[in-house]
Amino acid sequence: MRWQQKAFSSLKFITLDEVDSTNIEARRLADRGEYGPLWVRANSQTGGRGRRGREWVSKSGNLYCSGLYTHEGSAHDAAKFSFVAALAVTETLKTYIAEDKIKLKWPNDVLVDGKKISGILLEGGKDWIVVGIGINLLSHPKNTESTATHLLGHIDPSLLSGPEPILTGPDTVLATLSSRFNYWREMYLEKGFNPIRQAWLGWADNIPGAVIVRLTNEKFSGHALGLDENGALRVRLENGTIRDVHAGDVFFGDQGA
Ligand code: BTN
Repeated sequence: MRWQQKAFSSLKFITLDEVDSTNIEARRLADRGEYGPLWVRANSQTGGRGRRGREWVSKSGNLYCSGLYTHEGSAHDAAKFSFVAALAVTETLKTYIAEDKIKLKWPNDVLVDGKKISGILLEGGKDWIVVGIGINLLSHPKNTESTATHLLGHIDPSLLSGPEPILTGPDTVLATLSSRFNYWREMYLEKGFNPIRQAWLGWADNIPGAVIVRLTNEKFSGHALGLDENGALRVRLENGTIRDVHAGDVFFGDQGA
């Protein structure tokens, strides 16, 4: 049984020079019977995938990785691992830059000084999940829908040289990231979603606060109140009714108006 095997296995890492997508590679491994926990990292991706079918530009120098883990539970529960991943990313970034620069934007964008530095793409099968994470370390693409940034530009230059420079490459970032992911994953498995939700809200930008929600066929504004027990964004509409938003683009304050 995959789930039982997982409990006795330690974390494995695979590093590739180039791949279509680390998420696709992790899925191929799962299809071949790999059950993880395993992280696949590539120096570059030729078909990096973002949310909603968007491309994730994947030039070498940044972190592109996917964690493969067994998952016992519903697709609803699986979705909570994107919050686990977002926490892991913030805690990794805070080892390099000041905490107050880092914010989370629902559902799982990580922002530094208000600009997107990381993306998370969660996928899953019958009894496994793949959590794909990209972090812009050395560069960021131009002309993206949300303004992007990269880590190097935010690190105090004095910390980048000398005998122990703090940013030495994607492998060291992945070491912290995978370990923080495991920490929050264990927390979720032992204590449920509530500690994840509380920790996530501690990093959230503009919750509570004004929000504009854009769904596939609909756009409305309201006041973001918090997250429900499944991670949906709870919004109070202008007419006073409460609506839980499960997917969609969300703009806070007067962005996207
Ligand atoms: C987003 O659109 O915000 C999510 C982007 C996720 C990108 C990462 S990079 C590693 C992994 N492999 C992919 O093809 N996508 C994810």
